[in-house]
Amino acid sequence: MNYRKLGRSDIEVSEISLGSWLTYSGGVGREQAEACVQAAFDAGINFIDTANVYGRGAAESLLGEVLAGRERSSYVLATKVFFPMSDTDRGLSAAQIHKQIDASLQRLRTDYVDLYQCHRYDDQTPLEETMAALTEVVRSGKARHIGFSEWPVEKVEESLAIPGVARWVSSQPQYSMLWRKPEAELIPLCEREGISQIVWSPLAQGVLTGKYRPGEPPPADSRAASDSMSGFIDRLIEPRVLEAVERLRPVADAAGLTMAQLALAWVLRQENVASAIVGASRPEQVHANASASGIVLDDETLAAIDEALGDVIVR
Ligand SMILES: NC(=O)c1ccc[n+]([C@@H]2O[C@H](COP(=O)([O-])OP(=O)(O)OC[C@H]3O[C@@H](n4cnc5c(N)ncnc54)[C@H](OP(=O)(O)O)[C@@H]3O)[C@@H](O)[C@H]2O)c1
Repeated sequence: MNYRKLGRSDIEVSEISLGSWLTYSGGVGREQAEACVQAAFDAGINFIDTANVYGRGAAESLLGEVLAGRERSSYVLATKVFFPMSDTDRGLSAAQIHKQIDASLQRLRTDYVDLYQCHRYDDQTPLEETMAALTEVVRSGKARHIGFSEWPVEKVEESLAIPGVARWVSSQPQYSMLWRKPEAELIPLCEREGISQIVWSPLAQGVLTGKYRPGEPPPADSRAASDSMSGFIDRLIEPRVLEAVERLRPVADAAGLTMAQLALAWVLRQENVASAIVGASRPEQVHANASASGIVLDDETLAAIDEALGDVIVR
């Protein structure tokens, strides 16, 4: 496993990290989740991403239990705040940030997170209030660093112009061979400002592993076939997308790679990407994905990927 620096912080994160969105908020059983976390450590993954809203606290609680016996400094822990935790608890007001960080720390059974991320931008709260509250969280030692996820680029720029507040070290966008929107404005801005990308759904929720075949029902043990985890995958399993992904198969074969390795090496070709946050329902997937660290794709392969995917790429 290779490691990359997280923005201008002194934190080094594994190129492949473990997420906990649909999986460890209740989608897969507790034993499977625990086995995946163990596999992650075995594979050299040191970076785990969660959020207060995943299962409204369930993913954080599970990780708190599973990580309890481990030396705290041996892993980098990230969580998030913004989405509703109850009918009245939501957003990035100072009161919410202070309340939610304490609740997250309690569930995670730790007294600090390495990275506290704003899950979305809150247009109901003045930006100065959010930044001041995040700065207090950092000064109190409850978070080492801060990050944002899917903020409008102009709001990131505005936040960077506020004097005396904590600096972002990370941005968490959706980014994959199929979803390239961050390349236009977000990545150039973050490169200039010393902010790393830690990217979500780098396998397009599993689609880029080639497990879904056009015209065939999804495998019974897959996310698309799961009642609890399939809510966000429709756009990715449309026939035209699956047909384009099929065209990647010979590209991966020619490069001597699995399709998962090809997809993860593709996001990691960007130097501004510090880590690809991968979900896993089984420990074998963690190992398969971790093996993508260190793979470098040549220009011919990169060009073949673009040609295979054609106009299904969202830019
Ligand atoms: N900031 C945000 O707004 C945001 C949004 C979404 C996600 N995230 C973060 O990003 C993380 C990753 O997102 P994601 O779970 O959608 O990512 P993903 O890595 O694109 O998809 C993960 C899913 O693909 C399947 N899979 C993974 N590796 C595989 C392999 N080697 N072979 C075959 N199938 C494989 C598994 O599903 P099955 O086995 O069930 O098919 C797994 O749960 C989340 O857990 C979360 O931490 C953040």
